[in-house]
Amino acid sequence: MSRTAAHMAAFRALESARESDHRLFRDSYAERFLPPGERALIALSRAPLARHAIEAYADMRAPGARTSGIARTRLIDDWIVGEVSDGVEQVALLGAGYDCRALRLPELASVKVFELDRAALLARKAKRLGPPPANLVRTPIDFLSDDIGATLLTAGFAPEKRSLFLWEGVTNYLSEPAVSAVLRLVAACKATIIFTYVHADAVNGAFDTPGLPALLRRLQRIGEPWTFGLKPEELADYLAVHGLRRRADLGAAEYRVLYGRGGSGKEGYEFYRVALAGPL
Ligand SMILES: C[S@@+](CC[C@H](N)C(=O)[O-])C[C@H]1O[C@@H](n2cnc3c(N)ncnc32)[C@H](O)[C@@H]1O
Repeated sequence: MSRTAAHMAAFRALESARESDHRLFRDSYAERFLPPGERALIALSRAPLARHAIEAYADMRAPGARTSGIARTRLIDDWIVGEVSDGVEQVALLGAGYDCRALRLPELASVKVFELDRAALLARKAKRLGPPPANLVRTPIDFLSDDIGATLLTAGFAPEKRSLFLWEGVTNYLSEPAVSAVLRLVAACKATIIFTYVHADAVNGAFDTPGLPALLRRLQRIGEPWTFGLKPEELADYLAVHGLRRRADLGAAEYRVLYGRGGSGKEGYEFYRVALAGPL
């Protein structure tokens, strides 16, 4: 089961415990995926003093991971809402993990949503959330061995409809051919994709930012090592080769500042990027 998916749920639960005028979003489902000890901490964190201490501890353990994850969640929410209001009819969440956008974003209630992830994770998600609403289909996949096009078609995905793909927190765990296959499919559907990637120098440990060596060791230990990254300066060409045009590409230092969650200095995770791409 993905520990990193649970970490993202923990960050979202912590953010959701903030007062309504101090949070970037509210994900009331996130805490259902946490073990009892962490759920107790989330309950404690409703008191601002306790929350500051819990946030400081999380930021000390993995510098920049929480602030980057929170700001990125809000940025992606905003991009999704923009695309849906622009006419997107179906959304595929690739490596959806414990992302509950299909339930928490009202804008997604009127479009078809597909959530793809490993079978065991989806089974656990279904157990915690109960039956999905009629517009949501959960479909198992292994991006490293399964054909994504065939998987989506079997699930009822209609390639001729205006589509948006979200691939958050996943490319860094895959191989180049697996990444390539998804991008080719997106281009073939003339669709839009929002995806995250890590700077190639973060995968090999050369990126200069606090906490990276310890983070890479921890990922190895939990069996979720990073295996794929890209250089931002090469992204536009990489996408073009796959038939896609880069529309936006921001690093954590930029999107944290956009949402008032940090300065642009080295606070960690600057290598974690989010991009938006569409047809050429
Ligand atoms: C860091 S989590 C991100 C989850 C979610 N997108 C989010 O942002 O909260 C990575 C997700 O990718 C999924 N994943 C990793 N490798 C995969 C593979 N080969 N096939 C299917 N899913 C995979 C994991 O199960 C996990 O849910």
